[in-house]
Amino acid sequence: MRIDILTLFPNMFADFTKESIIKRAIEKKLVEINVINFRDYSKYNNQQVDDTPYGGGAGMVLMPQPIFDCVEKIKTKDAKVILLTPSGKTYQQKKAYELAKEKHLILICGHYEGFDERIRSLADYEISIGDYVLTGGEIPAMAISDSVIRLLPGAINERSHIEDSFNENYLLDYPHYTKPRVFRNMAVPDVLLSGDHQKIAEYRYQASLEKTKELRPDLLNK
Ligand SMILES: C[S@@+](CC[C@H](N)C(=O)[O-])C[C@H]1O[C@@H](n2cnc3c(N)ncnc32)[C@H](O)[C@@H]1O
Repeated sequence: MRIDILTLFPNMFADFTKESIIKRAIEKKLVEINVINFRDYSKYNNQQVDDTPYGGGAGMVLMPQPIFDCVEKIKTKDAKVILLTPSGKTYQQKKAYELAKEKHLILICGHYEGFDERIRSLADYEISIGDYVLTGGEIPAMAISDSVIRLLPGAINERSHIEDSFNENYLLDYPHYTKPRVFRNMAVPDVLLSGDHQKIAEYRYQASLEKTKELRPDLLNK
């Protein structure tokens, strides 16, 4: 998979590609990540990328030309263009699985007051990572890339993401325990020490259901 991230702040991605599972996925050539400064594509004086809004109002708006030229230059026939915006559809694990099947993703990070509305016409998907506003699309781009890369075959043990929260049955993950068996009077449930795999699976399913009821009852309707 190839992921191109269009941003005005490429330095924000320096460590993202150099740590843990993302780093290993790049080394194993499961993914190639290109961080592109779309300011380089500006045809305006001083490589300007934004201007004041028509009609007045606060903040600066990203102009279409640099982003259009950049996307048109790098787009392959398989590319899916994703505009990161608080007004997009809220991102969910189901979308991560869908995007993990693609060959080429182009993620466009906004900044300032956001995008000139005409930039929307470039997008296959408009995605928000939640109902709150960040200063830029860089953190959403990292969140989406991370959630997709870990699903690429070979990135992590497949079982660990199949059992993650929000998968097919929409339940939250079951509770996990490790050593010690008792910590500050809190003991690991006996069943996990029983060696009975059938009982452990039943316990985990029930615990998962109860945790979902307690923390995310909305998921049970799905
Ligand atoms: C300050 S925000 C612009 C907010 C815009 N005026 C609005 O209210 O929708 C600047 C940029 O950050 C990114 N951004 C902020 N919050 C986001 C979110 N929840 N999901 C995805 N992208 C977000 C977008 O790329 C956006 O263009």
